[in-house]
Amino acid sequence: MILITGATGGLGNATIESLLKKGFQPNEITALVRDENKAADLKNKGVQIKIGNYNDYDSLKAALLGVDKLLLVSSNEMVDRLVQHKNVIDAAIENGVKHIVYTGIDIQNYATTAIPYVSQIHKNTADYLQEVGIPYTILDNTLYADSIGLFSGETFLETGVFFPAGDGKLPWVPKAEMGEAAAVVLTTPGHEDKNYAITANTAYSFGEIAEMVSEITGKEVKYLNPDADTYVEGLVNAGVPKEIASFLAGFGIAIGNGEFDTNRTDLEKLLGRKPTELKEYLAGVYGK
Ligand SMILES: NC(=O)c1ccc[n+]([C@@H]2O[C@H](COP(=O)([O-])OP(=O)(O)OC[C@H]3O[C@@H](n4cnc5c(N)ncnc54)[C@H](OP(=O)(O)O)[C@@H]3O)[C@@H](O)[C@H]2O)c1
Repeated sequence: MILITGATGGLGNATIESLLKKGFQPNEITALVRDENKAADLKNKGVQIKIGNYNDYDSLKAALLGVDKLLLVSSNEMVDRLVQHKNVIDAAIENGVKHIVYTGIDIQNYATTAIPYVSQIHKNTADYLQEVGIPYTILDNTLYADSIGLFSGETFLETGVFFPAGDGKLPWVPKAEMGEAAAVVLTTPGHEDKNYAITANTAYSFGEIAEMVSEITGKEVKYLNPDADTYVEGLVNAGVPKEIASFLAGFGIAIGNGEFDTNRTDLEKLLGRKPTELKEYLAGVYGK
């Protein structure tokens, strides 16, 4: 039995979709959800549903009974996420789970990053997995291609890409493809005690993205490339809370510093084919 946490979220759901597409039986998959109402689709597909919360050890212990492999999708809550992740890992160990796959981040340097509040949790969780000695695989995920619109700004097709990332490049991967990579790791042998970079073969800057979107839409989309302060000020003036604007600016600074341009990738090997080219992905989203 494979258990997927965060199954009502994007990456967990994409992983389950990929497992089903590969012919994995739905009754061999358990979705951990905290709100059963959000799991109606999964239930209709025959996927087993277990209710559990990262904050509630007993719920996790009950959910992980009889599970062989676990995909721990990192929490997105603004709390002590290490406590949450340890709860899941400890409950897995108590139930004799044989292999934990964890979704981390692919970044140059955890110590010097502009987004320590994002990356430190992944390092701490990876360290904990090694410390407890359970077979693990860390998926060092780059950023989702699906986030490009969010970073660029709601009206970027008309007003230009407003994001402070300079000329920094990033090997964007669609979330669906990251789910496919996770499904491969969960269903094929030989992935124990490994870190994989889930990154595309080529990294692209926001300037290059603006050019691609211009070609796709036939309308010029400029890359405005504000500095981080101007970006935060612009978002705050548009009504975005300052903490959120600063959080997003942190990603721009990290991308601008080249932190995501790590020059390592295992995605093609895992998928057994070339990952989706960014322009092809963008054409699917903006070419309609
Ligand atoms: N690589 C990237 O670009 C990127 C971008 C954003 C986030 N991330 C990280 O990658 C993770 C997966 O991304 P995603 O797009 O799938 O995020 P998402 O769509 O926000 O899904 C997060 C999932 O975690 C579940 N969850 C949150 N807190 C929980 C708790 N206390 N107990 C049990 N389940 C809990 C959520 O449940 P509910 O549905 O009930 O809320 C949801 O199913 C995120 O959580 C975040 O750590 C990565």
